[in-house]
Order: sequence, then C-alpha cells, then structure tokens
Amino acid sequence: MEIIIFKDSASASLYAANEITNLISGRPDAVLGLATGGTPVPIYEELARKYQRQELDFSKVTTFNLDEYWGLSPIHPASYHYFMNQHLFSRVNLDPARIHIPNGLAMDASQECLQYERQIAEAGGIDLQILGIGGEGHVGFNEPSSSLSSRTRIKTLISRTREDNKRFFKEDEEVPFHVLTMGVGTIMDAKSILLLAFGKGKAEAIARTVEGPVSARIPASILQMHPKTKILLDEEAASCLELRDYYQYVYENKTKADRISQDK
Ligand code: PGA
Repeated sequence: MEIIIFKDSASASLYAANEITNLISGRPDAVLGLATGGTPVPIYEELARKYQRQELDFSKVTTFNLDEYWGLSPIHPASYHYFMNQHLFSRVNLDPARIHIPNGLAMDASQECLQYERQIAEAGGIDLQILGIGGEGHVGFNEPSSSLSSRTRIKTLISRTREDNKRFFKEDEEVPFHVLTMGVGTIMDAKSILLLAFGKGKAEAIARTVEGPVSARIPASILQMHPKTKILLDEEAASCLELRDYYQYVYENKTKADRISQDK
C-alpha cells in the first residue's frame, strides 16, 4: 500500500482525477470501478471539467459501480443510478451501453449478482477501482464480518451506515436495509485501487485498515494484500496513523528513487 497524505481533500481528489486521466489517455477503453457517497464527488466534478475542456474522452470507457440499494428504482433520487447520472454520467460522453450498476429492482438478486460478476469478467476486469471507506471499515457495502473473498451479492447494512447515509434520503424516507454490492474478492481483483478518506470521522477506520491486522472486522484491511493500492488522505483522516511521518517521508523521497532508477 502507498499512503499519501495531502494538505486537504481537494488536492487528494485532484490527484485521483489525474490518475484516472492518465489511465484513459494511455488506454481509451479502460474499465473503471466507481464509488458513490460524498467522498468521490469532487473527483467526478474534475473529470466533468476535463471532459468540457476536451482533455478527456470517455466514449470507449466502461464503468462498473460498486453497489446499489436493494429495492430502489434507478430514478429514485437516493439511488446510486440517480447519483451517478447527476454527478458524472450526464456530464461526460460515456456510452450508456458501457455503464454498469447493479439493478436494485432485479427480480432475482442472486442472478443479478452472478450476471454482474460475469459482465466484469467479460469486460476484462477492472483497471482502476475508486473506493471510499465506511466509519466501520467497509468498502463497497461490505460491512464488518464480510468474507474477505466474497463476490457480488446481497448484504444487510449495519445501523451506522444507514445512519451515515440518511442525509441522502428525504426526512420521511427509510434508508433501505439491503444492498447489492461487489464483494471484497471482486474489489481485490481490480488491477489498481485508489481509496480516498477525508475527515476525522474516518481516522480510526483508516488506522485499522492500514496498520491493524487483516480482518473481516475491518474489511478494508484486506487492501494490505493488494499489490497496487494507494490510500489518499487528508490530514484529519491520517491523524490516527502511528507511522504517519514515515508514510510522508516515503512519499517525499519516492520521486527521488524514481528519478535514480530512470537515470540508470
Ligand atoms: P462517504 O461514504 O464517501 O459518503 O463518506 C463512504 C462509504 O460509505 O464507503
């Protein structure tokens, strides 16, 4: 894992948008894994800006979102279909046929999940997966105790997640109890991963993800086993890391090491 601590969330988001841009510039038919929630919104803003400035072409890009609420229609304002349309899909030239989000209204959840896994495989796998993290260490909606080798399936949300996500629903609406989510194993198959976390509320989950034991108690901790993961943090989210200064030192000296190896 590479841990990069930025002065603020805006700089971290810009870094992530640039990584996506570099990927698509080198590989116009890249497969992106996308996330919802508050964390990735500034990344999508920047990608839309880059598209408007004609610096990015999404016409051959394929996308797979991590998850969707079970029982919500794609036009429900709190659904992740709606979220993605609002923040990214309606603002760039993605081909609708290449956009994938689990169908929260599927008649048969397990069939829908199997098909989602098949579609990811048929697309050649995910090149770059964007992740947020839950306060209890979930990635996607893989809550504590999720199998670390799980695949896309239906899951039950913990109370904390339902509470955290209340802000996306109207006052008189109930946050669904169930979701369809890529599994931890599905996420681990991505060729590269960017996990972003901002604010004090994420600090403990980040410390346990980066420095704690690998455990289903904190599903994100399995990322310690992933060969190409970057953890992009602001100062607050990094504040509980025991080896914070070491990560900073490694990052600051990394460019020097890269330069030396290029010179040779
Ligand atoms: P957030 O959610 O970006 O809204 O904080 C992250 C997550 O639940 O994975």
